[in-house]
Amino acid sequence: MRDDHESPIAVSALFPMREEREYWDDLLTRELTSANERIAKGSVVPTFDIRGFRGELAHFDFHAPRPMDQLLSWTIAQLERGVVHVTHPRYFGLFNPAPTFPAQCADRIAAVLNPQLATWTTSPAAVEIESHVIRSVARRAGLPADAGGHFTNGGAEANYTALICALTHANSGFAMGGARAFAGPPVFYISKESHLAWLKIAHQAGIGRVAARLVATDGCGRMDPKALSDAISADRARGCIPVMVAATAGTTNAGMIDPLGDCAEIARIGGLWYHIDAAWGGALIASDRLSGVLAGIERADSVTIDAHKWFATTMGCGMFITRHAPVLSSAFQVSASYMPSNVPSLDPYVTSVQWSRRFVGLRLFLSLAAAGWGGYGEHVERSIELIGLLKGKLTARGWSIANASRLAVLCIDPPTGTGEARSIVSCVLASGRAWVSTAIFEGREIIRACVTNGETTAGDIEELVNALEAARRTG
Ligand SMILES: Cc1ncc(COP(=O)(O)O)c(C=O)c1O
Repeated sequence: MRDDHESPIAVSALFPMREEREYWDDLLTRELTSANERIAKGSVVPTFDIRGFRGELAHFDFHAPRPMDQLLSWTIAQLERGVVHVTHPRYFGLFNPAPTFPAQCADRIAAVLNPQLATWTTSPAAVEIESHVIRSVARRAGLPADAGGHFTNGGAEANYTALICALTHANSGFAMGGARAFAGPPVFYISKESHLAWLKIAHQAGIGRVAARLVATDGCGRMDPKALSDAISADRARGCIPVMVAATAGTTNAGMIDPLGDCAEIARIGGLWYHIDAAWGGALIASDRLSGVLAGIERADSVTIDAHKWFATTMGCGMFITRHAPVLSSAFQVSASYMPSNVPSLDPYVTSVQWSRRFVGLRLFLSLAAAGWGGYGEHVERSIELIGLLKGKLTARGWSIANASRLAVLCIDPPTGTGEARSIVSCVLASGRAWVSTAIFEGREIIRACVTNGETTAGDIEELVNALEAARRTG
């Protein structure tokens, strides 16, 4: 039994007294604020010496307890030097945004109260908040009022959920018999520019990576509808069982949107589940001016939208939304005597992949409640304006843009006669002035720059242009 006044130091480090907690909370808040200010003025890329760091790490043998304030300061200092700063205003990278402040508050609340989201019974307030957000996002995307879904740890889990739903919907025997329940090998369709977690998803679902049919694109990064219909017909002719078309609304490398209406029609005619992976592009639903770019999304059977991408929550927050909510219960139903309840359509552990789960939906709830759809609309429109500014500045200097995206990402070709994309990117990263990457778009390597940070300014865009120009001269 713990005595508050005489608890051993080691245990009180795990469960300290209120005064100590407050002291460390304050210390953390101060140190993190200062660190963020330094990060914004410093290098975007890691600046530490990995050998020295490993040496320091080796001293942690976990025998003698260490003072908490020292540990907190040490950890922040290491991360300040030892990670790519996705919160830096000149991180023009993958969709790892600087998180909104309400999302950070949500994480703190979830960490302290630690509600268990496996069942409604244990956390009714938390489960209801998440369901409310899911329904609001679904309605905003144009799905029917009875659409449902849940939060996931990201886009890959949401896409995996889509495939499991499609297989279960196509054949009720899949739940018990797996792929064996089908009269032939089940297959599904994505474009060759889609996010390739789909290959792992096919593997995990037990239908094999070969089941993920990579449909040709139209030369501009979008799924070619004719190639899609042809692929479905050819598969049927050879005895395969098509179960799903998954269009991408915002490809990872280039922000291209597959022809959502055409794909919907092909899926409808073939009787296939129609999924739309709008992991990052889905945030456009927030903008009254630009949501039309996603026209056709309302026809989907299911949609992936990640809150931790353009909605800028902290990492580990995706959403799976479906107009056929009951299929989730068929796909994930299970009964365990030790669980406090087992209500299909209500308890998250019987309607989703995960079991024990953190209260991640609070991040989007608080962010949406604090900023409204209008606030998020301005956020996405602003990113697109900054990308337009970057495009103008680069093309004026002889660079060219390979993708015609409506979203906030550019696939950049260096001016002819200058360095390769790869060497230019290496020079930019070595300078620490900005973070951009290389990617393959329609078969060739380009420089990829995406605005993800709500605090990036026109000055940061100018600095990126200068860094690219300097890199092409030396690269
Ligand atoms: C279009 C698309 N789908 C799915 C994913 C996978 O999402 P996550 O990394 O959140 O699992 C990504 C990630 O960038 C993506 O861009």
